[in-house]
Amino acid sequence: MAPALLVLGLLLGLYTLLYYNCIKGVKCRAHTSLRGKTVIITGGNTGIGKMTALALAQRRARVILACRDRARGESAVYDIRRESGNSQVLFMHLDLASLDSVRAFAETFLRSEPRLDVLINNAGVGADGRKGGSSLVFQVNHLGHFLLTHLLLERLMRSAPSRVVIVASSAHRAGRIDLEKLREPVEGFLQNFQAYCTSKLANVLYARELADRLEGTHVTCYAVHPGIVNTELFRYLPGWLRPLFVPISWLFFRDPADGAQTSLYCASQEGIEMFSGRYFVDCQVKDPWPQARDDAMAKKLWEVSERMVGLVA
Ligand SMILES: NC(=O)c1ccc[n+]([C@@H]2O[C@H](COP(=O)([O-])OP(=O)(O)OC[C@H]3O[C@@H](n4cnc5c(N)ncnc54)[C@H](OP(=O)(O)O)[C@@H]3O)[C@@H](O)[C@H]2O)c1
Repeated sequence: MAPALLVLGLLLGLYTLLYYNCIKGVKCRAHTSLRGKTVIITGGNTGIGKMTALALAQRRARVILACRDRARGESAVYDIRRESGNSQVLFMHLDLASLDSVRAFAETFLRSEPRLDVLINNAGVGADGRKGGSSLVFQVNHLGHFLLTHLLLERLMRSAPSRVVIVASSAHRAGRIDLEKLREPVEGFLQNFQAYCTSKLANVLYARELADRLEGTHVTCYAVHPGIVNTELFRYLPGWLRPLFVPISWLFFRDPADGAQTSLYCASQEGIEMFSGRYFVDCQVKDPWPQARDDAMAKKLWEVSERMVGLVA
């Protein structure tokens, strides 16, 4: 009995050490008031996005949850208003899988909101499918946000100093961009995972190129890795992986509030403007993997993305 208790105690001690040193991550210490600032967060109805939106609402920002599902969006608005005591939290419909929806969202936003201080491109999907000629994953995670940012840029410039936060991932390390194949459909778990990694590589490259193009405008942008977080992102995992995945995610993944810290930091920390275009992990600048530092590829991806969303012929 005693040796068993000793082993259990040791395991618990080890897990606590692991949890606080590696899993939980760093807390954003910026408590700047965001009163008077307007923030858009895509996919703000659940997971990292919802916790980021809550923290921004607690700092008194006006927060627009740009979500594809009205019921889920409005339910999140209700929760965040109640928890933060901030009534300036609103839902606006946005489906990043449809470029028409992105245009309609931008039109509604620009018509109704005079300023935009922070745009957080947070929504993401790891699912299968094909839409508008390119894989759904690439469309939602990169192209939809690319067009959205473009359409809102003038308002960001008018509200400067302002920011774009792009929620990428350390999964960019397995990304491979083949500009000729971005439109190819993907099938099955492995191809989907590869498409996800590629879309996240596109996020990091996009932040780099956007920062270059925004130089001198006082609009800055940051790519973020939130950590490995226990959210609904993994909802499309094959059924046979679930029995293994669920306990691992409860034990070893961050909770969404901890996963929101670096997005929150990049949205609100003062004095990080000199790091525009860089990649942040645990509220610190970090070098991304070499393929995400390829400026020539970042430029080409920008040009191809412009054509894919119909900004140039
Ligand atoms: N979880 C992690 O370990 C992890 C690690 C690295 C990076 N990330 C990144 O973190 C971001 C947030 O993910 P999460 O983990 O919080 O996942 P999540 O819980 O699944 O949340 C994803 C959000 O994106 C929204 N979304 C999906 N497709 C959309 C579309 N077509 N149009 C508009 N919104 C759409 C979802 O809306 P619905 O609720 O309607 O589906 C949901 O609000 C993603 O960019 C993800 O790649 C996550």
